[in-house]
Order: sequence, then structure tokens, then C-alpha cells
Amino acid sequence: MNISKKIINRYKKLIKTINNHNLLYHTYDSPEISDNEYDSLYSEIKEIENLNPTIISTNSPTQRVGSTLLENFEKRQHETPMLSLSNASTFDDFHDFYKKLLNESSLASVILFAEPKFDGLAVSITYKNGEYHNATTRGDGFIGEDVTQNVKTIKALPIVIDNSKLPKNFSVRGEVFIDKKDFEKINKDLRKKGEKEYSNARNLAAGSIRQLDPAIASSRRLRLFIHGIDDPEKFTKFKHHDKLFLHFADIGFPVNNYSRLLYNINDSSSYFDEMDSLRNQIPYEIDGLVYRVNDLAMYKKLGFTAKSPKWAIAYKFKSLEALSRIKEVTFQVGRTGTITPVAELLPVNIGGVNVSRATLHNFSEISSKDIHLNDYVYVKRAGDVIPDIDRVELSKRKNVTKIRPPKNCPSCGSVLKKIDDQVAYKCLNHKNCTPQIEQSIIHFISRKAMNIQGIGNQIIKDLVSKKIISRSSDLYKLSRKDFENLDRVGDKSISNYLSSIESSKETTLSKFIYSLGIKEVGESSSRSIATRYKSVDNFLSCNYDELIQVEDVGPIVANNIISYLSDKDNIKNINALVSADIKLIDKETPKMNNITAVLTGSFENYSRTDLTEILENNGYKIAKSLSKNTNILICGDKPGNKLAKAKDYGIEIIYESELIKLLSKFH
Ligand code: IVH
Repeated sequence: MNISKKIINRYKKLIKTINNHNLLYHTYDSPEISDNEYDSLYSEIKEIENLNPTIISTNSPTQRVGSTLLENFEKRQHETPMLSLSNASTFDDFHDFYKKLLNESSLASVILFAEPKFDGLAVSITYKNGEYHNATTRGDGFIGEDVTQNVKTIKALPIVIDNSKLPKNFSVRGEVFIDKKDFEKINKDLRKKGEKEYSNARNLAAGSIRQLDPAIASSRRLRLFIHGIDDPEKFTKFKHHDKLFLHFADIGFPVNNYSRLLYNINDSSSYFDEMDSLRNQIPYEIDGLVYRVNDLAMYKKLGFTAKSPKWAIAYKFKSLEALSRIKEVTFQVGRTGTITPVAELLPVNIGGVNVSRATLHNFSEISSKDIHLNDYVYVKRAGDVIPDIDRVELSKRKNVTKIRPPKNCPSCGSVLKKIDDQVAYKCLNHKNCTPQIEQSIIHFISRKAMNIQGIGNQIIKDLVSKKIISRSSDLYKLSRKDFENLDRVGDKSISNYLSSIESSKETTLSKFIYSLGIKEVGESSSRSIATRYKSVDNFLSCNYDELIQVEDVGPIVANNIISYLSDKDNIKNINALVSADIKLIDKETPKMNNITAVLTGSFENYSRTDLTEILENNGYKIAKSLSKNTNILICGDKPGNKLAKAKDYGIEIIYESELIKLLSKFH
């Protein structure tokens, strides 16, 4: 059936109008029509689509919510890695950053572009041929999760754009977040239903983007600001970040309005003070400002450190504090049995978050800060970190009592031990003390370990207390039935849990080792151990003498590993994990890319061993000397004669500042 030109034109007009009203309402908080008028436009477009289903365009506002439930979140590699920013927490830090910019650019002043740092979830959003193509979470910066459907539900996201001044294919980087008042409202609803509340707006935004049901994501009023691009070199029509972002705003991308160009350090500092004082009035959480060089050509010149660009910095606001009183001190048992004293406080609201507990860390902290039961104390909160007590308000001190370490474990009753040379008191009943079991499984599922997303700590505690699980490998035996035994867990959540567990099976050896939770074996020693041993089997047959040779492993850590592996139950658990089909991927078994690289000179941000390892993990073959078969020379400071030779052979030369790009490009 032919659809009349008139209807087609009206349809196109409605798409444009409604999308524009969505942007005005959801991003700029300045609606130009009433809700009724909006609804009537929406009904009109819906009716055209109902009568003429063939007309439906992906760009239509009705098409944001897909109807298919997702099975799980596929992983996707970022074409250009998503880096993090280095932080400044004082004006001196910021000043250092600025001085370095002047030094490295040899300019008398550098113009900066600054805007709030949104406390949300980072995503990379890809457009191809002028159309929204996909969205990926930041993940570990190199590989994230495909959240295309859920990001599409964000009303402020443009689906079709005028890309005449933009590259054919590109990604923008942005932050998904939720307004403070929507956070309150959703929590209130959850509370009413007796469900678990989110501890802050960022977790809620992240939880919403990771819903397998796009309808839930859609109901959460998620917001978005874009703040970056994948690769400035692609955007040949723009020389400056501010101009590019003005253009983005023009073509309908949600761009923040508080941004400012800053011409010198004084400007930068007053902008900070101004925004700090506005912070509470802004409807969404911001935790600092991001300053970046406005001249895009300078990005390449300035380059990167190992983790972050040198052309930008996050200058954080001071953490917030409030006065409260310690009502009681309780004791928490940690993963390895360490007892942590916790202050139970009279509830106070600190920057929008209700706080009723703060960590007292350990007994030496309690005595050095002279903290007593019943004291009035200043409580500090910084981002997601557990609040902590900054100082006592001595002028209000009355009827206080000394805080003493307990003699027995508050959970299992075992006699506590004070370990020589350590401030900590410990419960040594590791295998039967419930909080230690819970915490070791909670560690196992955490992001940096096996990254089983979406299962909250309470669920783990419930599973442990019902004796459904007692060690990490039990997670891989869980069935729908097991979860049905828990209170208040719906079918959809169970599907989420099971799919998260399933997708966690694909991981790296270093994360696997880290997830075991061996005392003092952190991320970086796990990485070194994984590089040394390459497989679980090899690792299981390690010995002390070998271990102490591994970078980041000293005698204490080596002993901890040996004693961990000499415990039969631990070995049983590891074997059960291996039989659960855990698949160890990437870093340890990189896909080779057939590129042979040679290093020369020294590098500012990497030792040569580290760099070799990183490149090998990314599939490069590293050769010691140059030959005609060498594809690239990676050139550091004070290069040897390899540089001249490479030029002679016509081999591509890559400098340190270009490394990050290299690592993503050929992957
Ligand atoms: S620019 C190379 N601008 O903060 C990264 N980032 O610690 C350049 N963030 O992962 C980032 N608000 O997701 C930039 N206005 C803003 C931001 C912002 C929040 C996040 C971002 C990044 C993290 C860096």
C-alpha cells in the first residue's frame, strides 16, 4: 500500500519535533510545550505508525525501547581504549598539571575547556553513517559490555544525526546518570516494596543500564551528557574541543551547559570555586571538574601516561563532611579474619547521602585520633568510599568511654589473635566463620576479580546463611531453584544472576588468581604471577623459590601463596572452578596479530619488561633485534642505533605518546 506524501512528511516532521522536545526536556530542563501537548504529538505519531506499520523508522521516538529481553551482555572491544583521568585533589596538584602543559607546549598560556565531572557510568556510543549504531560500557577500558538497547532508551540520545561535518564512523564518550530527585524517588519506591535500595545515584544509573529488560532501563529516566570523542584526528573539520561540542549541541547531542573556556590559571581556579558553590543546586551529582586542553592538535603532542591522557585532568571537589555522634562501636570480620571497628552513628545527611556508619579502621587509628564512644565526630564522605571519621569535636565531649578491642570474634566466638607487628586483631577460624566465607565469595565476584555483576552482597549472604553455597566454586552450581529459595528474588533477577555467572566464566588467569583472595595477593601481583605461570596447572605446582623471583611477590606473599595452596580445601575449590568450565582468555593467550615489534630506548611510563608484556598481551611478537621482518620500531627516549636502522629499512616508527593508539588499532 502506498503511503501518501502528506503522511510521510507529517511523520518526518513529528519525529524531528518530538526528538527535539525530548532533548529540551531531558537535557536542558527547559520544555517549550506542556505535557499534554507532548502527549498529543506522541499519540499522533503512534497512530500514523499503527495505521502504516511499514513507515516506522528506527529514529522514531516510539522505537526507543526494544521488546526483546536480553540473555546477557556481550563483550565488545573499544576501537580506541577508554582511559581514565589523573586526579588533582588540591590547587597545587592542578597547578602542577598546568605548569607541565606550559612546559611541554612551550607556550605562555594554554586555553583549557572545563566542565563538571558527572558522577555516572561511562559509555562509548558509536555512530555509523549518521545513525546510532551501538553503545558499550567502559569495562576495563579496553573491553566493555554491549548496552546498545538500553542506551537507546535514553530520551536525549539522538538516533539519526546530520553527520555532514563529522567522520562517517565515530564514537562519542559520555556519562549516563540519574537526577538526584529521581534517585530519591526510585529508592523510596523500592523501600515501600521492601526491596533493596541503591546506595547512590551512580549505582542506580549503572544498575539501570545493566538491566536485561530494556523496559526497566527505559522507566528509569536516565540522562546523558557526552563529553569526549574517540579520536580527534578523525574530526578533521574541527580544531578545538569547544567548537566541536558546540556543533554536537547544534545537531542534537546532549551537551552540558556549564562548560567554560578558561584562558589562564586564575580563570581556572575561580571557575572551580564557582562550580563548587553551585554544586548543591545542580540537579545531578558532580564530584569535580574536568579540565582539558582545548586545542585538539595538542592531544597528540602531549600524549598519554600509562593510564591517562596528559591533556586532561579531573580536579575533585573536597569531600563532604558533617557532625555526628558515635552511639556504639561494632566489630566487623573481614575476608581474611581481620577485625575492623565500625562506628554506629546518629544518622546524618552528607551531601545527599544518609550516613549512619563509619569505619574506624583499626585500634591504632582510634587511639591516634583519640576517638571514644559517645564522642561527637566529623564524618567525611568521598564518592563511593566508606565514610570515615576525620576528627573529634572535643568541645562537645561528655560521658565518653574508651573503645576496647574485643577478646572473641563477634561472629564465631573464637579467641582473637593480635598478630605480631600488625595493628590488626584476627579471627583465625577462616573456614567456619560466616563473615569470612561471605566476604571471600563477595571478593570473588567483585569487578576486578571474576566480575559477576548484578549479584549484591546481600544475595551472597543469604545464599551462605541458607547453606546453599560455602565456597566460590559453588556459585557455578547454582540453579534457578537455589535462588527461588531466597526471599524477595524475582524471576527476572534470577535470570540476570544466572547470566552474569555464566558470562563471568570467560576471564583471564590473573583475574582468576586475584579472585581466590589469597592474603595480600592483589591485582598487580596476580598479574605478574599469571605472566610467570601462564596456566592454572603451572600455578598449582609453583614453589617458594620461584615465587619470590616474580615481580611484586616478596617473601610474605610467597608464603601466603604456598600456605594457601597447601590447604586441601583450597585445592578442591580451585579444581571445582576449573571443572566449571572457566575459560581463561586474552592476556594469557593473546590472539597473535602477526606484527613483530622491536623496542629501543627507555620509556617514561613503562619499564621495558612491562611494555614487552603489555604488547605481548595484545598479540605482538617482540623481537630483540631489527630485521627486514620487523614491522614496527617502538622508540623511547635516547634510542640506540636501531632508530637509524629502522629508518633505513623503512620500518614504521611509533613513539611513546602514540602507544595507546597502537594498542587498540591493530588488535
Ligand atoms: S573527559 C580520557 N569529561 O570520568 C578520559 N570525563 O576519571 C577523558 N567523566 O572515565 C574523559 N564526567 O567517564 C570527561 N565531563 C567529563 C566527565 C568525565 C565524568 C568520567 C569519564 C572517565 C572518568 C575519568
